[in-house]
Amino acid sequence: MKILITAGPTREYIDDVRFLSNASSGRMGYSLVDAAVAAGHEVVLVTGPVEMSPPDGCEVYRIETTDELRQRCLELFPSCDGVIATAAVCDYRPKTRITGKITKTGQPIVLELVETSDVLAELGTMKEHRWIVGFALESQDPRNNAMRKLRMKNCDCIVLNDTSAIGSLTNSVEILSPSAETIAIYKGTKQHVAEQLLELIEGTIHGRKSRAK
Ligand code: CTP
Repeated sequence: MKILITAGPTREYIDDVRFLSNASSGRMGYSLVDAAVAAGHEVVLVTGPVEMSPPDGCEVYRIETTDELRQRCLELFPSCDGVIATAAVCDYRPKTRITGKITKTGQPIVLELVETSDVLAELGTMKEHRWIVGFALESQDPRNNAMRKLRMKNCDCIVLNDTSAIGSLTNSVEILSPSAETIAIYKGTKQHVAEQLLELIEGTIHGRKSRAK
């Protein structure tokens, strides 16, 4: 298989030196890259800024902003069999990016934020025979929110995890199907969860799609 994997956070710049972002370590995505490369798949990684070095054996594209993530994914997805979207995407960006550095005035400032594009939802509109595995990070009403995202983004399954996953070495996930069934529950190190998830994709998600081609 040729697999597109997105990982890490995106950044949205306020001025040339300050940005909005989140605490994603990129570890879940990088563990999936490791597992997929070890299993002999061709992997294309689109990664936000993280402290780890990209795993060996994959094609790497570095991005910072959600818009850059979108451009890369739109360009790369058509040649892949599927996408695993672990990136922790900034949902909002400052309406305008100030050139240079904002200087203090002694007064409060107000940032006007606008929504960024939903990259996975856009890939969902162009997926055809390809499969899409989304991640949902939820702090409230997890199953309903994850199912809403699965449908909105046209996913073949969604990996539900909670906010304790951010920056952690371990994860505990529930995989939900389009009919809201629990397909699997995996717990342990992100490497272990990645290996299990990849086996599920190889055995069930990809198999079903290639038979339907
Ligand atoms: N995602 C994306 N583009 C965005 C936001 C999210 O591609 N602008 C992807 C993520 O990589 C993940 C899935 O969509 O695979 C769900 O991300 P999540 O942050 O849980 O949900 P959001 O759609 O951003 O909704 P909310 O933040 O309101 O919960």
